[in-house]
Amino acid sequence: MTAEAGAASGSYTVRRVRAEEWRRLRELRLEALRDPIAHLAYLDRIEVALERPDSYWQERTRAAASGTTVGQFVAIDEHGYLAGTVTALVTAPGEPDYIGETSPGMRAAVVGVYVRPGHRGSGVLQAVLSETEAWLRGIGVPRVRLHVNEHNLRAQGAYRKCGYVDTGVRVEMVDGVNHEMVRDLPSGQGDSYDRS
Ligand SMILES: CC(C)(COP(=O)(O)OP(=O)(O)OC[C@H]1O[C@@H](n2cnc3c(N)ncnc32)[C@H](O)[C@@H]1OP(=O)(O)O)[C@@H](O)C(=O)NCCC(=O)NCCS
Repeated sequence: MTAEAGAASGSYTVRRVRAEEWRRLRELRLEALRDPIAHLAYLDRIEVALERPDSYWQERTRAAASGTTVGQFVAIDEHGYLAGTVTALVTAPGEPDYIGETSPGMRAAVVGVYVRPGHRGSGVLQAVLSETEAWLRGIGVPRVRLHVNEHNLRAQGAYRKCGYVDTGVRVEMVDGVNHEMVRDLPSGQGDSYDRS
């Protein structure tokens, strides 16, 4: 465990983002959008993201750093550099979620998943997802889901390793056909998430 609030995993510290680190989160996002498979991984596009003003990134990071609607988590390596990130979007009962679907219960989706190339295959995704899921459990979300492009086989494999199961549901999105994967988040496992 390091001095900062968060969970240490191997040589990584995992924690929720902080509003003041919006500049480096912007850089991480731009790097993700330049990934060779970004067109299969993200709905956003680098050309559009580059045009966004600082105020957009400040607000985006502020929203992800506090509250219970958006939670962004990062893994930080032993040198203090960002290694990867996961964002959870929480939707209240009856509200449309990020793909416009409604549900009678509270639900959450994992989006914006990125592990920097030099850190892939090192358990970073597992560590960040696990912290994200602990946060979600702590605010009462029973199940998390995500959508992964049918051609993004590495991401599918990585999510499977982290306990996500393909529901068989296929969703047509702007990047093509996506597989819905879910993971139940059982309550009562002793989580008392208070790291926000
Ligand atoms: C997707 C991502 C987060 C996964 O993190 P990672 O650290 O690379 O994942 P891992 O290496 O731990 O796991 C990938 C698994 O898929 C397997 N895999 C890799 N390529 C594969 C392929 N073409 N077909 C099937 N399985 C594959 C790997 O072997 C590995 O499983 P193993 O550890 O049992 O061998 C990361 O690669 C990334 O950021 N990619 C670019 C952006 C992206 O795709 N984001 C997800 C959007 S949904």
